[in-house]
Amino acid sequence: MLLVQISDTHIDASGERVYGRFDTSFALKRTVTAINAMRPAPDLVLHTGDIASHGSVERYEAFRDIVDDLEVPFALIPGNHDDRVALCTVFGGSPALPTTGEFLHYVIDHLPVRIICCDSVIVGEAPGEMCANRREWLDARLQEAPDRPTIVALHHPPFYSGMTGSSAKGLKRGGPELADVIRRHDQVIRVLAGHVHRPITAAFGGTIAFAGPTTSYPFGLDMGSDRVLTIVSEPPAFAVHAWLPDAAPDGAGLVTHVQPVGDWGQPLTLLREGRVVRND
Ligand SMILES: [Fe+2]
Ligand SMILES: [Fe+2]
Repeated sequence: MLLVQISDTHIDASGERVYGRFDTSFALKRTVTAINAMRPAPDLVLHTGDIASHGSVERYEAFRDIVDDLEVPFALIPGNHDDRVALCTVFGGSPALPTTGEFLHYVIDHLPVRIICCDSVIVGEAPGEMCANRREWLDARLQEAPDRPTIVALHHPPFYSGMTGSSAKGLKRGGPELADVIRRHDQVIRVLAGHVHRPITAAFGGTIAFAGPTTSYPFGLDMGSDRVLTIVSEPPAFAVHAWLPDAAPDGAGLVTHVQPVGDWGQPLTLLREGRVVRND
């Protein structure tokens, strides 16, 4: 099973550039082309939030116009820049967002790895939370299938990245309690998040937590005391989570890759079917 994770696409109004500089619609189109070129094709594309820069029906329709070109299914998680009502207007009840409840959380249950999509948004705030209601919902979902390998996904990273800029703080409330929930369910093989616009890995609740890269504008690696948040011209990327039957000595496991998106020229083939085809 191959799961592609995209995040923080920050689609803006047609023809607009985010911060006057970043054509996020073009960046997403390029990402869609790169995903469609993958062989084997992924089973699912999961978006871990901040679909639009300022959530609105118009922007979600613009997003839909681009991802309609994906040749594989996709699923959506809201981020702090998203608007639940507008998101439901465009996607609610569809396979991409099979819910319209107070919190936009749901389970993807048809793949070898179960994916529990959580809603960590606090309306009007950049950081997120996992309140008691949402944690109880997650705990109940995890109790349903204790023997299925499971990914828990939410927009806000539940760990502190060390990046001191204000919008990289992740969960404002409920982080330690979420760790307790995850720790009680050892089928959780990964916690996936977005929000920090660069790939970051940390231990969390007895498992591995990973914040995925952005397809739009990466944040710089700023960990200084002056608490600066920067945008840098590093390549956008997506993550590929591969559930492999022989990933570990004792059996199956989830292996995570980060794939930059861009034109890097023609690849140089060194081996084919294990045989050397080029040896300078
Ligand atoms: Fe974002
Ligand atoms: Fe965010």
